Amino acid sequence: EKGGYDYFMLKEIAEQPKAVADTLLGRIDAAGALSLDELRIPDAELRETDKVVIVACGTAFHAGLIAKYAIEHWTRIPCEVELASEFRYRDPILGARTLVVAISQSGETMDTLMALRHAREQGAKVLAICNTNGSTIPRESDAVLYTHAGPEVAVASTKAFLTQLVACYLVALYLGQVRGTKWGDEIHAVIRELARSAEKVERVLETMEPVRALARTLADKNTVLFLGRHVGYPVALEGALKLKELAYMHAEGFAAGELKHGPIALIEQDLPVVVVAPSPRGRSVLHDKIVSNIQEIRARGARTIVIAEEGDETVVPYADHLIRIPETPTLLQPLVATVPLQVFACELATARGNEVDQPRNLAKSVTVE
Ligand code: F6R
Repeated sequence: EKGGYDYFMLKEIAEQPKAVADTLLGRIDAAGALSLDELRIPDAELRETDKVVIVACGTAFHAGLIAKYAIEHWTRIPCEVELASEFRYRDPILGARTLVVAISQSGETMDTLMALRHAREQGAKVLAICNTNGSTIPRESDAVLYTHAGPEVAVASTKAFLTQLVACYLVALYLGQVRGTKWGDEIHAVIRELARSAEKVERVLETMEPVRALARTLADKNTVLFLGRHVGYPVALEGALKLKELAYMHAEGFAAGELKHGPIALIEQDLPVVVVAPSPRGRSVLHDKIVSNIQEIRARGARTIVIAEEGDETVVPYADHLIRIPETPTLLQPLVATVPLQVFACELATARGNEVDQPRNLAKSVTVE
């Protein structure tokens, strides 16, 4: 059942290229446009959408944070992302033109389910992004887009996350397509790039041995920090969450721009800091800023572990360890940048003798508050 792997998590990490390809399967037509007939919400209604609200928990929430960048960029529809456990006890402002997107691997998470009920009571349309066929969340939603990741057994979510991202990109691009906003060369080009993402994830997986070796050297550390900007910020949050739940280490993710507003005080000699560098192409401003963040923390003794695109040479002098990922358009970068962080956390958990598939105190599906 583990297909020759020691843990389900390793198997599921390895399955990611296929999972990503399966989530795209049949959803891009011969002309390179998206066809999401399964959505069941008429295009006319989607065209009227004036706000998108994403609700989710944990890793699925991080997928939602990334989706916000994509949705606002490609559709110009305002998008909010909220933890389901917060949303359900607020008085959110929703209406018939609000599209609520509930993201859940299991489809059974109590807080997410309650959030979607709360939204529907107020007349909002709910679209579920879910991995489990026929589970409660899609059954109670107006529409569902299934992530075809296949069963995820390990408690820590990996392939479900990558496919949630793909599904979010599909929703964002589809909204852009039906509304005609920015529709044209850019969206077509992104769809083509999305179609190549499985192959890029495969390439990342082939180069993970040095990441494992690095993780083993950090097994006696107490703290690891993660920094990112733009879509790299939720990637940093996800890297930190994986490390907490698997390695039981203190791990925190920060927006790199916030460093000097507090977190930089945490930097001390030999503290491992993982930095997700944005794509140097097209977003040079952000890239320059992160390079100076890396310089700042290194000058204070941090051990910098930098995730950067192939060909990005500017980070080299400041990286104690460099993890390369393939060139990818900025908004899609999380698909490749997250993978080394999953491997890193899994290897650290193993090195610390932890139960990888079944971390202490956690359950796969959280059906209580
Ligand atoms: C983290 C993890 C959890 C889940 C969260 C939501 O690795 O697995 O944070 O992402 O409990 O679960 P679903 O997606 O089933 O609603």
